[in-house]
Amino acid sequence: MKSRYSYKETLESAEKVGWRVEDIIGGDKRLDFKRPFLPESLARVNSIDFLTNEEKLTLNQIRGYGYLYTFGLVEEFILPFILDHARPQLPGDDYRTRALLRFAGEEAKHIHLFKEFVSEFKQGFATRCDTIGPPQEIARAVLSHHPLGVVLVILQIEWMTQRHYLDSVRDDQGLDPQFKSLLRHHWMEEAQHAKLDTLMVEALSAACSPAEIEQGIGDYAAIGGILDGGLRQQVEFDMQSFQRATGHALNAEEQDRFRAVQTQAIRWTYLGSGMTHPKFLETVGDLSPVARANIQEMAPAFC
Ligand SMILES: [Fe+2]
Ligand SMILES: [Fe+2]
Repeated sequence: MKSRYSYKETLESAEKVGWRVEDIIGGDKRLDFKRPFLPESLARVNSIDFLTNEEKLTLNQIRGYGYLYTFGLVEEFILPFILDHARPQLPGDDYRTRALLRFAGEEAKHIHLFKEFVSEFKQGFATRCDTIGPPQEIARAVLSHHPLGVVLVILQIEWMTQRHYLDSVRDDQGLDPQFKSLLRHHWMEEAQHAKLDTLMVEALSAACSPAEIEQGIGDYAAIGGILDGGLRQQVEFDMQSFQRATGHALNAEEQDRFRAVQTQAIRWTYLGSGMTHPKFLETVGDLSPVARANIQEMAPAFC
């Protein structure tokens, strides 16, 4: 089957992008805590109607912090996976080697970028925000699965970042400019990553028996379950962080409402927006029309 993408073209696009962490954060490039960090479609704070506007802004920023942390976390398993995938065929196609090593280098840069934003956030936000982890432990759990399952999760994540920027961030003029710049620069490089992930899915699946493809798809779902469990825990942490930051002790009814809205919001942000992306579904459908149909059937729970 002829691929939709090529290593050569992807490498050429990547070489046109190329930005430095220092261009985006640091020095006089500071977060503005008077502005929201995430678009409402991801943060979903407005439908928690018992919160004041100020409290909604605080929750939006807590979710922004979670975004930085969660992307840093998933990139902890993306980076070693790409290196492992590149290594066995280093002497083969030079474009492949260069495109994959550049991909790995960009993910290392993104990990650095997200860490810089995390430290900037901590300087400006008065109270502690807790997060799931440690990232290395979650990365180890993810990477213990079949490589086809892992690469499908990575494919979903990279298409998801495209959707976040194009559908929700690009036209939102109210966001903090620095946070928006982070999302824009991340989007610019992730566009190439999503194509390289597609090529990796094609290469890995070509070497798999039908039984292994089934195992890979099963492991994709299993990793999704691990991530979903982590996200549910993150909602509890966000609720505690919110109460600490605002001094608003939520009663039982408010906690239920907060939990319900934010669980759906965080599921959409990190799972639903990727698993319903047409390009992701297209690649899964090429592997297994049944798997594509199953994903589409369970997607509403994550939207
Ligand atoms: Fe990234
Ligand atoms: Fe990426």
